[in-house]
Amino acid sequence: MADFNSDFWHWYIAILTIISILACVWLLRWMSTGHSKSDTVEDTGHVWDGDLTELNNPLPRWWLGLFYITIVFSAFYLLLYPGLGKFGGILDWTSQGAYEEEVAAMDAKVGPLFARYQQTSILDLTKDETALKVGERLYANYCTTCHGSDARGARGYPNLRDGNWLWGGSPAEIKTTIMQGRQAAMPAWEAVLGGERGVDEVAQYVLSLSGRATISELAAQGKTKYEMFCVACHGADGTGNTALGAPNLTDNTWLYGGSLTRISQSIAVGRNGKMPAQGEFLGEAKVHLLSAYIYSLSQQQ
Ligand code: HEC
Ligand code: HEC
Repeated sequence: MADFNSDFWHWYIAILTIISILACVWLLRWMSTGHSKSDTVEDTGHVWDGDLTELNNPLPRWWLGLFYITIVFSAFYLLLYPGLGKFGGILDWTSQGAYEEEVAAMDAKVGPLFARYQQTSILDLTKDETALKVGERLYANYCTTCHGSDARGARGYPNLRDGNWLWGGSPAEIKTTIMQGRQAAMPAWEAVLGGERGVDEVAQYVLSLSGRATISELAAQGKTKYEMFCVACHGADGTGNTALGAPNLTDNTWLYGGSLTRISQSIAVGRNGKMPAQGEFLGEAKVHLLSAYIYSLSQQQ
């Protein structure tokens, strides 16, 4: 019960609970007096319609008995389970522990199935309808927040269906991406390129790489700068490098948007997309199935 950060609330709740229960006992005892031998019954003094008198009969004994049972039950409950402030109950039951037991039971149930899938190659799994269904469900649980429910991504989050890969699209590369995560590092170039003008020139040249209309004078100057600063990662021909996650700049598919403004922004301030590692969190068996599902998506083109 780490939620209690001061002893005050612990005692406040515990004492209030105990007082309430004792008050119930007192109330019941008070209600049960009056089961006298005599046949005379008190009335409350309320009379309606001339002769309708409200009597003050004590509760029937069986009814009182039920109330006493609930009180005994609550006393035992508070002894065994958490409820009295910080006191955790002598059974040491926690909702966290119950959850962990459930997870362990589930793992024991589906573990062998996942282990069998893990022995199967990713390529073979893509032919296994059931495996892909499991992969799809895992995707829906863990990946949609960033890559979208249709896996088509969003700005800054790559489309996983289009067959364009930042980090490589082989089954092994996809699995590495998901297991270990990826950290892209595209430095900010504005200062190096000599300010806005330099960025404009290179941006024009980048546009020309995917065959788009450009201001040719600027693009020509941009080419020189590109060869000086950009080839190391994006390649002389602009097709990128999957070892570095450097995108292909010739295919007119853009992670951060393909308008001149967006491209200039990518160049000026840099981009540092991060795919979080899932291996430790999900375990290799689940990642294996996810890889098969992602790979199968890219093969549907
Ligand atoms: C150190 C390697 C490296 C260098 C050098 C580099 N880039 Fe990049 N670039 C990357 C990486 C990695 C990404 C992907 C960033 C991400 O995924 O967040 C990227 C992304 C981009 C993008 C965005 C692409 C998209 O799809 O939205 C553009 C445009 C770009 N780079 C242009 C350039 C230009 C122009 C230069 C030279 C001035 C350059 N890069 C130099 C590594 C580099
Ligand atoms: C917090 C957001 C986030 C979550 C959650 C996330 N991803 Fe990613 N993922 C990214 C980003 C951002 C990139 C691109 C990194 C870069 O710029 O290079 C990426 C890249 C990838 C790539 C590489 C794409 C390529 O073109 O090479 C794959 C494959 C991938 N994610 C699969 C998954 C799977 C499967 C899951 C679910 C287990 C997942 N991702 C969950 C943000 C996320």
